[in-house]
Amino acid sequence: MERSGSHGDGTGGERNILDVRQIEVVYNKVQIALAGVSLAVPEGKIVAVLGPNGAGKTTMLRAISGFLPSESGKVTDGEILLDGQSIKGLQPHVVARKGVCIMPEAQAIFASLTVADNLRVMPHPAGEQSRAETVERIYTLFPRLAERKNQTAGYMSGGERKMLAMSRSLLLQPRVLMIDELSFGLAPVIVDQLIEVLAEINRTVGTSVLLVEQNAAAALSIAHRAYIIESGRVAFTGTPDQLRDNPAVRELYLGLSDQAGVKSYADVTQYRRKRRWGG
Ligand SMILES: Nc1ncnc2c1ncn2[C@@H]1O[C@H](COP(=O)(O)OP(=O)(O)O)[C@@H](O)[C@H]1O
Ligand SMILES: [Mg+2]
Repeated sequence: MERSGSHGDGTGGERNILDVRQIEVVYNKVQIALAGVSLAVPEGKIVAVLGPNGAGKTTMLRAISGFLPSESGKVTDGEILLDGQSIKGLQPHVVARKGVCIMPEAQAIFASLTVADNLRVMPHPAGEQSRAETVERIYTLFPRLAERKNQTAGYMSGGERKMLAMSRSLLLQPRVLMIDELSFGLAPVIVDQLIEVLAEINRTVGTSVLLVEQNAAAALSIAHRAYIIESGRVAFTGTPDQLRDNPAVRELYLGLSDQAGVKSYADVTQYRRKRRWGG
């Protein structure tokens, strides 16, 4: 399967399906989680968002999907455009119906239903014929799910449940699929499979993807463009190659320390300390 990360730079001349402009997000009226973040997803591309814990990545996905109010959060400035139209402040179900979906956590499947029934209960916008085709495609993409079609979903491994969660999102035929920490808690071999499938879906169906990921190497292997968010701001953006060539990114996000004493845009030392103490 061809990976698309090495070509197409996600810039020049494409139309942005999603365009986040200078958004500011505040929790509990005082706590600034995003301080003017701009980010764009070109139509049909995969955009990766990297950054340490607490940087504001999940907050950004919540702001786009309309999930913030339930967290006492508010978009206090900036604009969020889908196809050039504002979706800022819309209710979650309205944003979802416009085709912007967040892939649910692996736990958000029906544990007592079979794999097949977990897919069957999903609404599918394009009718029954198309549903059957999509389900067939899902089983081709995830042979493991095909093998376990009639098994109870709750007894499957974490990786298989994640595959099922992704499949359920695919039945909704999203235009923009947003994923928060795809690799979290999964074995590397499963992460590779999920990442490959995501690239394949993007390549064949053209689904645009906004992928928030701690596993920088995995995300960069399929992204067309990436953003690094630190402390509620965009610290760096570029193509995967540009990120891989950046000494600070190599050291902090890829664990490739080829130059001692690198100072990042943020504070490398502070990040190391945080990482060591899990802060
Ligand atoms: N519901 C909430 N209420 C108050 N503060 C929050 C809430 N959710 C997140 N935060 C704060 O906002 C900042 C960004 O968090 P988050 O978006 O979860 O970061 P990330 O996903 O990058 O780890 C952190 O300082 C976090 O403590
Ligand atoms: Mg998060």
